[in-house]
Amino acid sequence: DSIKIFAPGTIANVSCGFDILGLCLDSVGDEMIIRKTAKKGVTISKIVGQILPLETKKNVAGVAALALLEKVDSDCGFDIEIYKNIKPGSGIGSSAASSAGAVFGINKLLGEPFSLAELVPFAMEGEKLASGSAHADNVAPAILGGFTLVRSYTPLDVIKINSPKELFATVIHPQIEIKTADSRSVLKQQVTLKLAVKQMGNLGGLISGLYTENYDLISNSLHDEIVEPNRSILIPGFDDVKKSCLKAGALGSGISGSGPSIFALSKGEETAKEVAKSMGEIYKNIGIDFDIHVSKIN
Ligand code: HSE
Repeated sequence: DSIKIFAPGTIANVSCGFDILGLCLDSVGDEMIIRKTAKKGVTISKIVGQILPLETKKNVAGVAALALLEKVDSDCGFDIEIYKNIKPGSGIGSSAASSAGAVFGINKLLGEPFSLAELVPFAMEGEKLASGSAHADNVAPAILGGFTLVRSYTPLDVIKINSPKELFATVIHPQIEIKTADSRSVLKQQVTLKLAVKQMGNLGGLISGLYTENYDLISNSLHDEIVEPNRSILIPGFDDVKKSCLKAGALGSGISGSGPSIFALSKGEETAKEVAKSMGEIYKNIGIDFDIHVSKIN
């Protein structure tokens, strides 16, 4: 009556898809062990790797789990252990991994009363606790895998998008912390029609490129004209990293989540590894420690 799961890291936003387009990493993630308990409710008995609250209502996994249990009759409770490999504030979906992992694991132990898509709103409650906004662009790919698009928030409609076979993600995490709530507060609440048109063109192009596995189209579409210009000023070395990725052969790059991580997409694992090297050089020169991951999108 227990389950051990891999709770994957995610990149969201993917450039022009602010708050709607995310992808799932297969080489970065946390581990969670969830056990049924005789006593009803949710406890978090152990968190290894990060200092985070154990109190259920203050922990994103706890809050997501409680949201699920409110909607189902369960004669038992659940205890959660979390082994964190993803640092909070890294931009690789740390809170999403815990929230998504909790509801995924509990759903399995309950005999899957909910479909994967139905788990997304529960996991969003964890995101709300973490950042003040119940966005789904990290939790949806963490639960459904691959690329996902939040077509609508009200009502929630999440669509799984094709992941091109040769597409790899490189993510560099400079060791500085940027809180999602802070990097959301620098965003402008209004955009001009001209910018909206540009962004919509790129988003349409990107979705089309992902389905048709057209890497040139993906490359031409990987731009964010709305959020990145405001947020990138919080990330040291951002412009240099972007330039170096393209030089190393990446299709394009952008801010991972709300930063400070930066991601690049590449065709082929070899190119993605070259991109990793070139990103690393920039932070070595600046003198900021970093970790870096190359991952297939699964
Ligand atoms: N879509 C969110 C943002 C992801 O960019 O603020 C961060 O968790």
